[in-house]
Order: sequence, then structure tokens, then C-alpha cells
Amino acid sequence: MQSRELDQFEQTVAADHRVEPRDWMPDGYRATLVRQIAQHAHSEIIGMQPEGNWISRAPSLRRKAILLAKVQDEAGHGLYLYAAAETLGADRAELTEKLIAGRQKYSSIFNYPTLTYADVGVIGWLVDGAAICNQVPLCRTSYGPYARAMIRVCKEESFHQRQGYELLMTMMSGTEQQRAMVQESVDRWWWPSLMMFGPPDAESSNTEQSMLWRIKRHTNDELRQRFVDMSVPQAAKLGVTLPDPHLVWNAERGHHDFGEIDWTEFWQVVKGDGPCNAQRVEHRRKAHEDGAWVREAATAYARKKEQAA
Ligand code: ACO
Repeated sequence: MQSRELDQFEQTVAADHRVEPRDWMPDGYRATLVRQIAQHAHSEIIGMQPEGNWISRAPSLRRKAILLAKVQDEAGHGLYLYAAAETLGADRAELTEKLIAGRQKYSSIFNYPTLTYADVGVIGWLVDGAAICNQVPLCRTSYGPYARAMIRVCKEESFHQRQGYELLMTMMSGTEQQRAMVQESVDRWWWPSLMMFGPPDAESSNTEQSMLWRIKRHTNDELRQRFVDMSVPQAAKLGVTLPDPHLVWNAERGHHDFGEIDWTEFWQVVKGDGPCNAQRVEHRRKAHEDGAWVREAATAYARKKEQAA
């Protein structure tokens, strides 16, 4: 017989109400959330690196201020998400240790290098655009603290996407060389952006259960399709070509058809063998070690305050 707690949990989810930290929840639900939220938090933190690479070389003070604010926002997103994972009983220090030890994943997209300044614009447009597509539905995810964190994250991601698109618009109205730089960057980032949505539904081990629990509100392929449909008119307005000869409007489906994603490349990057995986994790490890004195000082101060009370 099903327990009263499980009945209540299922009713909460079915009614589209939020599950809160103190509510009873199945162990699998908790574990899935910790896995997804931790991966998401790690992505925000590791995601600071590719763009951080351009802060000191931004072409004007205005662009530098925008980029600094954006990279700082990503740190904030990581912190809200770690805090959301903590409400499920996860230990933040342990999550970081797992990331550094390569035992927890982060988004594949951040393992690609940022080779030109146009990459800052293209990451804003495509990578943050894909992130919004994936994360707006997460504002309605069934776990309360995650859903609420997503509202603010999505507002900030919207700003990120627009700054990227505006940057590209500026470059596209510049010189021939600047336009070529944008096109070359789009050619490199388009396919990895499509990979951000995860494996095809048929190979997605977690989607079915996560949809039943309403952690995920759409499947990987549904969101990928939405992103392609959204990006095509934006690319046309910008004046760039998306690097896919099979990309064509299908009136019958009411969607764009597109070419096959290189899933071998995707799994290679996910398993740690992408162009920058080692560098990203090493950089994170060093930052964590360099920050040890801050954590030690904060802990000592907290202990002193506690003793004085
Ligand atoms: N990069 C790295 N790993 C991935 C990716 C990706 N793009 N897509 C899927 N995977 C991993 C999954 O984490 C899962 O691994 P695990 O079972 O060992 O944990 C495995 O591949 C199979 O994938 P799915 O079963 O489809 O996994 P899931 O149901 O978790 O769906 C998705 C993946 C769509 C990324 C989901 O976790 C999600 O929506 N996460 C929240 C958003 C997020 O993390 N965004 C990060 C990038 S955006 C940004 O930071 C700006």
C-alpha cells in the first residue's frame, strides 16, 4: 500500500503546487534534484571562465563594464543554486569537491575556447539564449527553492542575451573584417549550443522520470526545437548564416528541420575529453585552493562570535 506521505507528494506535484524543503519527498526525487541543481550551479561557476578570458581585453570601458557585470551575475546564479541544493541536505563544500574531482558534471558548452571577441557576443546570443529556453520552464519546476531561484536567474539571463545580440549587431554594422569575425564565431558555437539541451529524448536516461515529477517541464528535443525556431529569424536579422545546410522550414510540422548533431563529440566533451575540460577544472581547483584562507577566516570569525554570545 502506498504511504500517506507519497500520496500527498503526488497530489502536490499533480496540482502543480510546489514541494518545499520540509515536505516529505521520495529519495529518488531528492537525489535527482541534487544532481541537476549541482550540475546547474557548477555550470554557472565554470561558465565564468570562457568570458572572463575577455574582460581585460574588452575594446572599450563600456564593453568591459557590461562583461564584468555579466560574469559577476553568473557567480551569483551559481550561489543561488548551491543554496537551493543545500535546502535538500546537500553540502556545498562536498559538491565543489566532487566537481574538482571530476565526479559531477557541468554543461558541455563551457569546454569550448573563446578565441575572438565576437565569441562574447555569440555566447550572449546563442549560449545564453539556449540557457533561457531551457530555464524559463524551470521557473515552474516542482521544487520551490529551485523554481524561485530560476525567476531571478532568467531575468538576468535575458539581459545577457540582449547584450550579446546588441554587441553582434554593432559588429555586423562595422567593417567587413568584423562581420567575418562574427560569422566565424557563429560557425563554431552553433552546434555546441544545440548540444546544451542534452542527448536526444530516446537516449536521455533521466527525462521520463523527471517529467513525471515535473522537475523537467519539456523534453530535451522539445526545447532544442524551440531554440532552433527562435534562432533562425534572429540570425536572418543579424545577417549571419547558421552553419547547417539541412536547416529548412517544414510547413507540415510548423517547425524547422535541422541536420544531425555530432553526438560522438557531445559524449566526448561530457565525459571530460573536450577542448578545454582539463583547463576549466584545473582553474576551478586552483581558485578553490587560493580561496581557502577566506573560508578559514570566515569560519574562525563565526566561531569567535558564537563564543562571545
Ligand atoms: N552537458 C553536460 N552533461 C549533460 C548535458 C550537457 N549539455 N546534457 C545532458 N548531460 C548529462 C546529464 O547530466 C546526464 O548525466 P547524469 O545522469 O550522469 O547526471 C546525462 O547527460 C543524460 O542526460 P539527461 O538524462 O537528458 O539528463 P537531464 O534529464 O538532467 O537533462 C539537462 C539535462 C537538460 C541539461 C537538465 O539537467 C537541465 O535542464 N538542467 C538545468 C539547466 C542547466 O544545468 N543548464 C546549464 C547550462 S546553462 C548556463 O549555465 C548558462
